[in-house]
Amino acid sequence: MIKVLTYGTFDLLHHGHIRLLERSRALGDHLTVAVSTDQFNLGKGKMCAYTYEERVHILRAIRYVDNVIPETDWEQKIDDVKNHDIDIFVIGDDWEGEFDFLKDYCKVLYLPRTPDISTTQVKEMLSNK
Ligand code: CTP
Repeated sequence: MIKVLTYGTFDLLHHGHIRLLERSRALGDHLTVAVSTDQFNLGKGKMCAYTYEERVHILRAIRYVDNVIPETDWEQKIDDVKNHDIDIFVIGDDWEGEFDFLKDYCKVLYLPRTPDISTTQVKEMLSNK
């Protein structure tokens, strides 16, 4: 069983998120998504439209997602890879190179982002209406 792990906020879920999850799951047999908690986001100066619980609820309903865990700090990734027996860490290429330190523990892949869509863009689009 090949286990895959990805991280993200996944606020106002859009097709760029779905494509990332679909491609991540297709790399293996089991996908764990680590979702940033509201507290962690606050520390980054980020405020979500949906709460952590709502984002988890939505992600759990997606067929490509097998497991959802909280992301509470920047330092947890090595432990997550070890504790969940992860074979492949995957994330969008906006993070290219940032998590290469995980290569000591698993395969690390940066997938091309879907063009022309982001949570930020959705928020801007709605606020301009
Ligand atoms: N992602 C993607 N294509 C997009 C948007 C996001 O592949 N168009 C990927 C990111 O690279 C990341 C995951 O989806 O691996 C979660 O991204 P997240 O930061 O939650 O979404 P964004 O839409 O980028 O949010 P924001 O605008 O707040 O940065």
